[in-house]
Amino acid sequence: MKLSPVSQGVYKIQNGTSALVTYNSVKGKNVYGEKLIEFHGDEYREWNPKRSKVAAMLMKKFKIPLVKSSKVLYLGASTGTTVSHISDIVTEGIVYSVEFSPRPMRELIKLCEMRSNIIPLLADASNPSSYSAIVENVDIIIQDIAQPNQAEIALLNSDKYLKPGGYLVLSIKARSIDTVENPKKIYKSEMNKLLNSSSCCFELVKKSELAPYHKDHLAIVAKAES
Ligand SMILES: C[S@@+](CC[C@H](N)C(=O)[O-])C[C@H]1O[C@@H](n2cnc3c(N)ncnc32)[C@H](O)[C@@H]1O
Repeated sequence: MKLSPVSQGVYKIQNGTSALVTYNSVKGKNVYGEKLIEFHGDEYREWNPKRSKVAAMLMKKFKIPLVKSSKVLYLGASTGTTVSHISDIVTEGIVYSVEFSPRPMRELIKLCEMRSNIIPLLADASNPSSYSAIVENVDIIIQDIAQPNQAEIALLNSDKYLKPGGYLVLSIKARSIDTVENPKKIYKSEMNKLLNSSSCCFELVKKSELAPYHKDHLAIVAKAES
């Protein structure tokens, strides 16, 4: 078995097949049925790119600028599949996790009982003022929200919470914006909104579709002006 680093806190384990993993910060516990893998006395959790846009981005050679101390605002947390891996990475940081649906929030709260660096917020990400009493300025915003106004939500939150020089990691689901239009046209229009906004000034770092892991999704990393 061989372990090679991919980025801060993320590795590839090769053992015949190859799997993306994070170091498990809550030893012995998995979160969503993922495999736990022992290597030289340490425990890792398999991170399936088909279940996580961020894992798919790493497979597509995106650099996700997370470090141990990163403060993250995660929009569209659901039950915490991806949030749990971000929590493994930012061991000295924090993951403010926004989800507006009460059902997945119940699971997310259970996860937070074991992981003190996740703060659950039952809130609508299109109204970022509603969590301003709790959320501070952050180094990274990660957004995975299936809504027609995905770019607007990203801009509203970036304007309010993203530090100068911080990063937006955005997954755009074309089919939530238009069910029939060519996805390429949708991506172009969403990119225009992001990069030509009067509220936030972003420089595009990388963009790529997430196929074969996620159909009709575009992933974007953009850096805010310093
Ligand atoms: C694709 S799922 C997220 C999966 C999750 N990011 C993961 O990888 O584990 C999208 C989530 O966004 C939530 N959502 C959609 N619109 C939202 C909004 N305006 N505010 C907060 N959450 C929202 C949905 O309830 C859903 O749980």
